[in-house]
Amino acid sequence: MTSPHPDNVIDGRAIAACVLGELGQRIAELKKRSAQPGLAFVRVGDDPASKVYVGRKEKTCGELGIFSETKVLPNDTPERDLLALIDTLNSDERLHGILVQAPLPAHISEARVYSSVMPQKDVDGFHPVNVGKLMLGDAGGFRPCTPAGILELLARSNIRTQGAEAVILGRGNIVGKPMAAMLCQKGKNANATVTLCHSATRDIRSHCLRADILIAAIGAAEFVKADMVKPGAAVIDVGVNRVNGKLVGDVDFAAVQKLAGKITPNPGGVGPMTIAMLMHNTVTAAERFHGMTH
Ligand code: GUN
Repeated sequence: MTSPHPDNVIDGRAIAACVLGELGQRIAELKKRSAQPGLAFVRVGDDPASKVYVGRKEKTCGELGIFSETKVLPNDTPERDLLALIDTLNSDERLHGILVQAPLPAHISEARVYSSVMPQKDVDGFHPVNVGKLMLGDAGGFRPCTPAGILELLARSNIRTQGAEAVILGRGNIVGKPMAAMLCQKGKNANATVTLCHSATRDIRSHCLRADILIAAIGAAEFVKADMVKPGAAVIDVGVNRVNGKLVGDVDFAAVQKLAGKITPNPGGVGPMTIAMLMHNTVTAAERFHGMTH
């Protein structure tokens, strides 16, 4: 099938399908040993976006042959009840991964919740042990799915990170900070010079204009305009913003696409890769549990 996109548009769905295809082979190997990867989803409250995201992740598990189980708790669940549930999931041998969907209600400490998932099942890469391993360049942990998916998109689209100026907009724990940590590592598909911009950054535009790789994870609709992008740059749009009932990214796609070297569409860019990397981490967790490599 040919890509429905112009030449410079990165087809995240096609690249995610490739990653999932490779995982299918690893799942088949596990099956030969009578093992099946298993992933638990926990959702607290009724945030509509979280419902959609978890629904997509469950569906992909089903298609790949990963066992999954979803626990939905009411919005007013006490934190101790959520921690008790995580304890139960930690000791359930059918489950190799646990994902507690963010955001959590305000009365629950995300830090305490993510620290309570055992690091070996932390397929989100949010536990302090895995955050530490990422910073240290230790491949034995788990890397957060969205930035890991972006690195995979760059690598599979032949976008060179080696020596590149990478500018990241947004310093969140889920995307911006781990993205910076990954891109600045010594090694293949990294070795970039990283600038992390945030709400206190002066003259963001001047930083963006230096970028060979510009990653927008700032949560502001169409924040990145054409006059902020160096011609030929790779532009990665992580944003999901609802404007008048319509979903738009952090990049003004129509204008930026005309001068970018490569650009992700939104939807159809980063989103499918986040799911693919979650499946990747879950398969890796199962392989480690069963004493296989990775
Ligand atoms: N909410 C938005 N992105 C994510 C993610 O990658 N993991 C979890 N658990 N929640 C999210």
